[in-house]
This record gives sequence, structure tokens and C-alpha cells, in this order.
Amino acid sequence: MDHFTYRNCVLHAEGVPLTRIAEAVGTPAYVYSSATLENHYRAFADAFAGQKATICYAVKANSNQAVIRTLARLGAGADVLSEGEMRRALAAGVPAGRIVFSGVGKTRDEIRLALEHGVGQINVESEPELDLVAEVAASMGTRAPIALRVNPDVDARTHEKITTGRKENKFGIDIRRAPAIYDRAAEMPGIEVVGIAVHIGSQLTELAPFRDAFGLVAELAGELRRSGHAIRRLDLGGGLGVPYRDETPPSPGAYAAVVKEATGPLDVEVVLEPGRLIAANAGILLTRVLFVKAGDTRTFVVVDAGMNNLIRPALYDAWHRIVPVAEPPPGAPERPVDVVGPVCETGDIFARDRSLPVLHSNELLVVRSAGAYGAVMSSTYNSRPLVPEVLVKDDAFAVVRPRQTIEQLLGLDSMPDWLV
Ligand code: LLP
Repeated sequence: MDHFTYRNCVLHAEGVPLTRIAEAVGTPAYVYSSATLENHYRAFADAFAGQKATICYAVKANSNQAVIRTLARLGAGADVLSEGEMRRALAAGVPAGRIVFSGVGKTRDEIRLALEHGVGQINVESEPELDLVAEVAASMGTRAPIALRVNPDVDARTHEKITTGRKENKFGIDIRRAPAIYDRAAEMPGIEVVGIAVHIGSQLTELAPFRDAFGLVAELAGELRRSGHAIRRLDLGGGLGVPYRDETPPSPGAYAAVVKEATGPLDVEVVLEPGRLIAANAGILLTRVLFVKAGDTRTFVVVDAGMNNLIRPALYDAWHRIVPVAEPPPGAPERPVDVVGPVCETGDIFARDRSLPVLHSNELLVVRSAGAYGAVMSSTYNSRPLVPEVLVKDDAFAVVRPRQTIEQLLGLDSMPDWLV
């Protein structure tokens, strides 16, 4: 169910009118719905009810600690890829044993931190990284639980910038070379092999690439077991897509069936790392119209949010639904406009040629499906402070990250001696 709905002609997040949030924290601001986060998590978890599955929410999608805690309370683990994300997950209450540490470029310090905390699994993405993990673990007198992230050379058929499982992508170890590396790993005192990991991309709207990749991983698991490796876990990554516009991604149930079909015969634990599926449609970016600028050929609606707040349209040509907070009366005329931000970049456009009701200065707009890869990818480009994040629960809302002040932003710089 959608928890961003019009009530009394005003768009609400659950029971809270977005006008009230705009008054309280100003704009732009991110607003998240607890009920939507929880529903998405539960729908996904329920689909795996009959399987030995651990759901490790991909914190990269939305790493606000209140969001992580909302999910951790439902039993979610976490997929993290940096010290910062690891610390967020721990601080939010995710047990270390339910944390998977992924990423192509882990540092020695990050690996040590992961081992000190006892994370459940480290996904190793290259041979030099395997050597480093083994060395750090051995120096600490411990064994690192690892999975090799394999690259199955499967095309996820998604946007080029978010496909990760083709051999020309930087991610993972060529699946054909994996057996030899597992043999090496088995000889390393600092390494305990627990499984295999794979992640082929994000925003997948078809099952076939998952089926292909999971099939190859299951085949590899069988082969490794036959050579004496204890493969007890398959980490199948994230990637299940969501509707932004008119996409019809597979349901969690259909996805879980594909997982079962591939892994069932192995009697293995599976780890899933959904990010976008949980968070994308649980968040919006609230923004205000600054000006409506009528040009010769186009009308520009200039809003107070920019590509530094939500970079997806500029970076991936992503399409996000945009709706006014004040519900337009039925049959209200629409006209095509470009919704643009204030950043001095031609690419700072949220929507091009979008049919919207006639808009005026000061009107509130909402950019939908912004809960995943929104706030986390924001920057302070053009010296624009980071914007607040608000979490709604029923009729209540809380600021879960305040707006960064200009003083805080400027205070990050310091003068060298010679300029004082
Ligand atoms: N696991 C691994 C190892 C990943 O690299 C990712 C995402 C996930 C899980 C979660 O994937 P999801 O379920 O969210 O699709 N910024 C881009 C998306 C980048 C995804 C990076 N990796 C965007 O805004 O579309």
C-alpha cells in the first residue's frame, strides 16, 4: 500500500501533511515513511519464509540510522561497504554477526575493524584482497569468514552505470577462476571460507538474469563442495527493481521462487541484500517552486532542490514522478514543463517536458521514489548545505538528520598558516 496519499487535498506521508513538515524543517527535505519501509521489508522477508534466508538490507541505499534501526527491529541484517556504513549499522543496532562487508576496495583498517567487531561475512572481490584479509586476520590470531564475490559475466539488462556482473565491470572475480582461488583460500590460516557471493546489478526488471547468475553460482557451489570446500552460504546480492514509472518488476515472491529453484537442491543458507526495493518508494524529496520561468520554447519550473540533493536524474537519466502537494482539482489543465534545480549545471534537471498542472512560486512539490540513492548520494556542490531527513510514523514525525547549517559547511575549511 502507498503511504504517500492525498487526504483533504493535501499530500500526506502516512498521517502527516507534507505542508506541516515543510513548515517545521523547510525545504528541500527528504521524508521517509516507516510503514512503507516496514511493508517492503516484510513483503520481501515473507517471500523467503520457507527458506533459510538472511536479509541484509543494503545500507548504501539509505543509511540514515533511524531507517536502519526501523529495519533492524524487524530482524534485518546489513550489507555495508565502508567503515562508515559498518559503524552506522552497528550503531543502529544490527548485530555484527548479521553484517556482510562488501566492496571492491576495502582498506586494511576497515578489514581489521570488521574482524574486531566479528562481522558475519567479508565478501572478497580480488586475490590481492584475499591475501590482505588473510594477513590481517592471521595477525589478529583469528580467521576471517569470507565469501568470494564472483563475476558470472551475466548482463543484468539494466542501466549501464548500475550493471555489475559483466566481465568488463570492476566487480568480483571471474567465476571461471574461482575454483583455483578457493583451493588457495583453503590453505590460508587466516581464512574460513563460508560461501560464495554474487551481485549482478541494480534496478533489474526481469528475472532471467537472476536465474542465469544464480544457476551459475549454484553450479559452482556444487563443484566446490565436491572438491571438499564447505560452502554453506550463498549471498545472492540485491538488485530487484522497483516501479518508478510504469516498470513492472517481478514480485518478491517470483524472485524468491527463482532463488529456491537455483539453490534448493543445495540445502544452503541464502543471504539477500535488497536496498532499493526497501527504501526507494518509502521516501520523497520535498521541494518548493522558486520561480516559473516562461521561455520562448519551454517553461522552466525552478525548484529549490537541485542535483546535489538528488543526482539520479542527472547521473542516470532516471525518471522520478513529480507531484504537487496541493492536490490539483480533477480535470485541472496540465502543460509540459522542465523541472530544474538552481545548480549551475545544464544537467540539473529533474524532469524534461513533463506534463504538470499549472504551478506557481512557493508551491510545494514532491519528487517521488527518492528514498533510495537519494540523500546518500547528495553533496554540497555549489556550497549548498545537506538537507534534513524526516522519518514519519503514523501521525508523528521526527527529524532524523537536521539541515546542515552554512556555518557547519564553511567551518569544514581551514586556512593554512601562510594565509592567516
Ligand atoms: N549488494 C551489493 C553488493 C551492491 O553493490 C548493491 C548496490 C546492493 C546489494 C543493493 O542493490 P539494490 O537492491 O539497491 O538494487 N546509485 C544507483 C544504484 C547503485 C547500486 C549499487 N549497488 C542508483 O541510484 O540507481
